[in-house]
Amino acid sequence: MNFSDSEIVASLMQDEGYEISGESKDADVVLVNTCSIRDNAEQRVRKRLRELKALKKNNPFLKIGVIGCMAERLKEQLLEEEQSVDLIVGPDAYRDLPALLDKVEEGQKAINVILSTKETYSDITPVRLDKNGVTAFISIMRGCENFCAYCVVPFTRGKERSRDVKTIIQEARDLFENGYREVTLLGQNVNSYFREDDGKQTSFYELLEQVAAVSPQLRVRFATSHPKDISDELLKAIGKHHNICNAIHLPVQSGSNNILSLMKRKYTREWYLDRIAAIRKYIPGCAISTDIIAGFCTEKDEDHRDTISLMNRVGYDYAFMFKYSERPGTIAQKKLDDDVPESVKSERLQEIIDLQQQLSHASNKRDIGKTFEVLAEGFSKKSADFLMGRNSQNKVVVFPKGNYNKGDYLNVKINDCTPATLIGTAT
Ligand code: 5AD
Ligand code: SF4
Repeated sequence: MNFSDSEIVASLMQDEGYEISGESKDADVVLVNTCSIRDNAEQRVRKRLRELKALKKNNPFLKIGVIGCMAERLKEQLLEEEQSVDLIVGPDAYRDLPALLDKVEEGQKAINVILSTKETYSDITPVRLDKNGVTAFISIMRGCENFCAYCVVPFTRGKERSRDVKTIIQEARDLFENGYREVTLLGQNVNSYFREDDGKQTSFYELLEQVAAVSPQLRVRFATSHPKDISDELLKAIGKHHNICNAIHLPVQSGSNNILSLMKRKYTREWYLDRIAAIRKYIPGCAISTDIIAGFCTEKDEDHRDTISLMNRVGYDYAFMFKYSERPGTIAQKKLDDDVPESVKSERLQEIIDLQQQLSHASNKRDIGKTFEVLAEGFSKKSADFLMGRNSQNKVVVFPKGNYNKGDYLNVKINDCTPATLIGTAT
């Protein structure tokens, strides 16, 4: 999401005559796009700001801005704490950046952290910063109103709002015409997308089908989904269209009903497992990935065991795994005790990571001998004789280059794997 926002910001700045510089030491303005989701994300930003402060010694005209969630969360406080910062801009105020920078040019500090109920940047054509020229993000909704107890996002990104259908389809078409072959529809709760324009209602599965209709040669992915809105209609739509990828990221957070209830996730373990069964029914061979938090408030060993058993039941192909990090202003911070000792959080997280490593490896081993359609994205990291691409399940596949180029679809037979990569040859 932040990467996609940076592409919108780059576009707004380019329209004002700014150019993207390769390195911060050559820049007149550095904007640091920030995340507040866990404390360590914020600490990394603080470190980056200290490094940038050193650059100001060589270039006294350098302007430093903090944009995104940390700007929104800390507001003026960040100007006081980080003396090197000239500019603070929240996620809904990027259109104001040029005017704010003018103010900074005049020697003042500038700030805009007003959240909007409408802003979706729908008319902005993002500057594609990741130049593989094959895959791109399309932001389709912003904000979140779920207020999961641990999460800072509803406070930093404001109310949920969906972008109009027409500009989304147009962006997908433009990308396809410019050679792109895969788009990922993005939002905090992408499957809660809902839009009414000129009396016509569009829900997420309908939008997905419209994007898929741009071309059978354009793959469509989406992230991130909330389990509460994984409907059968959506799963059927994915099953029906070859170019809607068979990979669903479905954050579970915990396998324990006690913890899910305290987290205010709005579903139970049983309900989640029913949705997993529905995915398996409507989309055989679909990859399923998740997010897991270890050591949320009051988590007992038996709650942790429930998470481990759920991971085994689902057999996730991939997971993002975190230690609970208390965030100021959230419901958990106000009402619950962050009472799991750091050492216990670390132990539980390590057990979760070790298990996921095994599950991912087992999933990849099951793919040996299978043939997948792969979209080539570019050279493999290790050798220019090999290309890398992804299959529909979003697994990275590496294969000898042959006469293939990035942007090509080809069939690859898998003959080996690591826990993270499938290795094969074109057939
Ligand atoms: N501590 C740890 N992990 C968190 N996440 C969100 N808030 C927190 C927090 N306070 C995780 C969730 C979410 C992912 C994007 O980040 O797993 O799905
Ligand atoms: Fe945070 Fe929950 Fe919203 Fe996801 S759904 S962004 S975890 S509040």
